[in-house]
Amino acid sequence: MTTSSTLRVGIAGLGRMGRRHAENLARRVPGAKLVAACSPVAEEREWVARDLGVENAHADLADLLARKDVDAVFLVTPTSFHPEHIVQALKAGKHVFCEKPLALDLAECRRVEAEAAKHPKLKVMIGYGRRFDPSYSDAHAKVKAGEIGTPYLVRSQNLDMNDPSGFFVRFAPTSGGIFLDCSVHDIDLARWFLGFPKPVRVFAAGTIAIHEGLREHGDVDNGVAICEFEGGKLACFAASRTMAHGHETSTEVFGTRGRLAIGANPRLNRVDISDAHGVRNECTPTFYERFEEAFQRETFEFVQAIAEDRPPALTLHDATEATRIGIALRQSLTARKIVEL
Ligand SMILES: NC(=O)c1ccc[n+]([C@@H]2O[C@H](COP(=O)([O-])OP(=O)(O)OC[C@H]3O[C@@H](n4cnc5c(N)ncnc54)[C@H](O)[C@@H]3O)[C@@H](O)[C@H]2O)c1
Repeated sequence: MTTSSTLRVGIAGLGRMGRRHAENLARRVPGAKLVAACSPVAEEREWVARDLGVENAHADLADLLARKDVDAVFLVTPTSFHPEHIVQALKAGKHVFCEKPLALDLAECRRVEAEAAKHPKLKVMIGYGRRFDPSYSDAHAKVKAGEIGTPYLVRSQNLDMNDPSGFFVRFAPTSGGIFLDCSVHDIDLARWFLGFPKPVRVFAAGTIAIHEGLREHGDVDNGVAICEFEGGKLACFAASRTMAHGHETSTEVFGTRGRLAIGANPRLNRVDISDAHGVRNECTPTFYERFEEAFQRETFEFVQAIAEDRPPALTLHDATEATRIGIALRQSLTARKIVEL
């Protein structure tokens, strides 16, 4: 942010998640202004101009990166493009926010870290938004304050409502599979709550409950996994794409003097319905309703880190480690073996 006190942002990717980030940047994040966008899809460029008033919408990322009036870019492109797009953005002198995960392969993570090291003035942050959710932030503060003693086990799950349109099957070739796409959030949370221990070994298993089309991509629609860390700390993960009730992200942190549970009831709001079916509440339909505030807060953190010229709360090393564990889970699923890290 060299030319004004407002961070001028360009966004690449205006799909499912990109539109949400674009709306936040255009309307809801103090200190940021959405000035340009990029998508190869004409309809998406028309949307950003019509709905958000962003006239500078390019078909090509290079044109967005060449703009002198863009200080930072949001990369919300398919995961398989993340490392190359981050490297291009850094070479163009832009601060970078990129959606998770960092990459599908470890060498690519290292390539991004090496490029970032050449641009120490530029901030790079990967979107592990769960950390910015008020409930997760509160739980983390309690763990840090020692309220549950020493944390030794995190059990965390990311469950999505079944999408009969087959979106996840079409998404599979670029997503990295269920562990890198979904569980990577839980992996990041486990590292964060447990104090960033070194992973030692993992075991993962999965099944296809509904979406047979995933088989040809080596993916599953339900998976479970265990990760052992140095010093005996543990994490258990579950991921699903086939839930009937909606989106549910929930996490338990076990400590020597207590346990915290976050999101145990994935309720949409505080309304309880009592009727002939019993007493119940509606559920968050997708991750977005659950984490809407977290996405705004993570964007604000990125903007603030640039304004204050300090490292963002989430480091590139965190993103590499989450990817490293996610890749090991995928290998374990495929090989049906324990993978040592
Ligand atoms: N943090 C979260 O909770 C969360 C949730 C959903 C998705 N994501 C991540 O966001 C990323 C995008 O996912 P999505 O669900 O929005 O996918 P999507 O397929 O809906 O959108 C991808 C977008 O990228 C655009 N695109 C493709 N190639 C491009 C290129 N070369 N240059 C510029 N734009 C290009 C497409 O036109 C589209 O707008 C993925 O990495 C995914 O893991 C994160």
